[in-house]
Parts: sequence; structure tokens; C-alpha cells
Amino acid sequence: MDTILVNPAGTGGQGLISFVGAGPGAADLLTLRGASRLGAADIVVWASSLVPADLLDHAQPGATIHDSAGMTLEDVLAVYEDHPGAAIVRLHSGDPSLYGAIQEQIDWCHDHDRPFEIVPGVSSLSAAAAAVGRELTIPTVSQSVVVTRLANRTSASMPAAESVAAYAATGCSLAVFLSAARPHALAAALLAPGSRYTAETPAAVVVRASWSDEVVVRTTVGHLAADLEATGATTTVLVLVGPFLEGAAPRSHLYSPTFAHSFRKRSAPGTTAGRPAAGKAARRRGATRTRRDLATPGESDLPTLPG
Ligand SMILES: C[S@@+](CC[C@H](N)C(=O)[O-])C[C@H]1O[C@@H](n2cnc3c(N)ncnc32)[C@H](O)[C@@H]1O
Repeated sequence: MDTILVNPAGTGGQGLISFVGAGPGAADLLTLRGASRLGAADIVVWASSLVPADLLDHAQPGATIHDSAGMTLEDVLAVYEDHPGAAIVRLHSGDPSLYGAIQEQIDWCHDHDRPFEIVPGVSSLSAAAAAVGRELTIPTVSQSVVVTRLANRTSASMPAAESVAAYAATGCSLAVFLSAARPHALAAALLAPGSRYTAETPAAVVVRASWSDEVVVRTTVGHLAADLEATGATTTVLVLVGPFLEGAAPRSHLYSPTFAHSFRKRSAPGTTAGRPAAGKAARRRGATRTRRDLATPGESDLPTLPG
């Protein structure tokens, strides 16, 4: 087994390159750790095309700021190479693990023995779900979320088996990134032969989720192309598709009085009150208490449940 430790203490520091998720746009959706890394950075490389400038308010006034919008990968790597002892933050929109182009930078760090860390961020996926006020995974409706995109100018990077049409055949909750410039191609792929979506399947267009000028358009797959076009937006747009967008949810087992798990017993017959399971940890977590009473932080390690 190969164990990899990347900045295991999560403490930041000189010489460390921090790939920080800036969140979807709202400055207060940056994580505390992200803000702390920005506040301590000597150098910040950020993408002005995707990350609002407000996020830079977290950086110290003396930090050197590079805008990656006009830089190549080589330009960015040269900044890293030229400053081996600096605390560097590379600010990526949303969560860096999604379409962040960080892997090539991480590979460079490995090749150059340069310590790095990834500071997760709130993805635009989460912000878009919040904007439409829906859960992405609703029992019996959809238990899978697919994050994908149309193959555009970079079609050579799209693995052969992955296409919007292929995922449409599953009827899953679909989040389509980077595709708003081709509304008709997107709509056609969603209704390709074998698709479980129909023209009536709900869809939503979320433009600049969490920004002060956020726009949410609720539509259907049948009207998606026209409604997407009507927004006039081609970038910073997420398209959500699937039955999860509409209707009441069936009740989940997790909080059902008739369902027991390792932290809660089935409610007594004829009642709906929760009964914390026996055991110190379960009692500590199940009881109502003040924050002062908490001996340890109550991390939520609930068991896996069937919905
Ligand atoms: C290069 S990808 C980066 C995605 C990012 N890592 C994330 O987790 O959201 C840029 C695409 O993400 C989506 N996106 C990013 N921020 C967004 C926002 N605030 N609202 C809607 N879509 C957004 C758009 O599809 C955009 O074209």
C-alpha cells in the first residue's frame, strides 16, 4: 500500500503551495481554512475570469497577485519555481477537484519535491443546488449525481464512453458544467434515443450561483435550449437536470420512528419520539445539550442507510 501524506497537519507554511477552492463566488462562501491561507500568502495566483475580486480582500496588502487568466501553465509554474520559499496560494473557483486543472500542477509539485496541499471549496454544484432549493439525492427518485459537460473545443479530452447522452440514459441527477454556449447540442443530447428524460423532465439554469446577480431559471428539458439562450449567459452557468428538481420527497429512513440504527432505537409503539441507543458515544450525541457540555466535537459518523 502506498500512503501519501500531503501537508498532513493542514497548517500551511512557507514553501507550501496551497490549491485553494475559492467557492462559487460569494466572498463568505470561502472556507475558514481558505481565508487563513489567503491571509498568510506571500503570492496569490487567481483566475479573474472565474473568481470575483472580492475574494482577494482576504489577502494581505503586501501579497503579490498574479492573474492566471492571461497566463499559461508554464507561466504559473515559473512563479512557483522562482519562489521556492514563499507561501503560495493558487485560487481556483468552486472546489479545485472539479475541472480545476490542478492535477498537472500537482504532478509538477511531485516532480519538483515541492510540498502542496488542496484546500477544498464549495463547488458551484452545491451553490446551484442551494439556489434551486433542492436536495440532489432524493430517496427513490435519484441516488446518483453525475457531474459532466459537453465535449466542446476540448473534445479530445472527453473519454469515449462519457457523454451527456450516456448519462441521460440513467435518469440520474445531472449537473452540466461548461456547456451553456451550446444550448441546442445540450438539449439534443439530453433527449437522445435511450434517454430516461423527456421533454417534461424538469431542468434549471443557474447563472453565477451565489453571486449578487445570480439568476435561476426553472424550465424543462423541452424548453431548456430557448430558456438557456434567453439568459444570454454562456459562462459561469450550471445546468441541472432531473426529476429531483420537482415534487415532494418520500420520507427517508434516517429519521423515521420505525427505523433503528446504531445511534437511535426504534421509537416506542404509538410514539414518534427518538430514543438514543445505549452506549456512551450514542448517548452523548443523541441528547440535547449545550456546546459547553460537549466533551468532544460531535462528528457525524452515522451508519450507511438505505435512503
Ligand atoms: C472551470 S469550471 C470550474 C468549476 C469549479 N471548480 C466548481 O467546483 O464549481 C467552470 C465552470 O463551472 C461552473 N461554475 C463555476 N462557478 C459557477 C457559479 N457561481 N454559478 C454557476 N456555474 C458556475 C460553470 O459551468 C463554469 O463554466
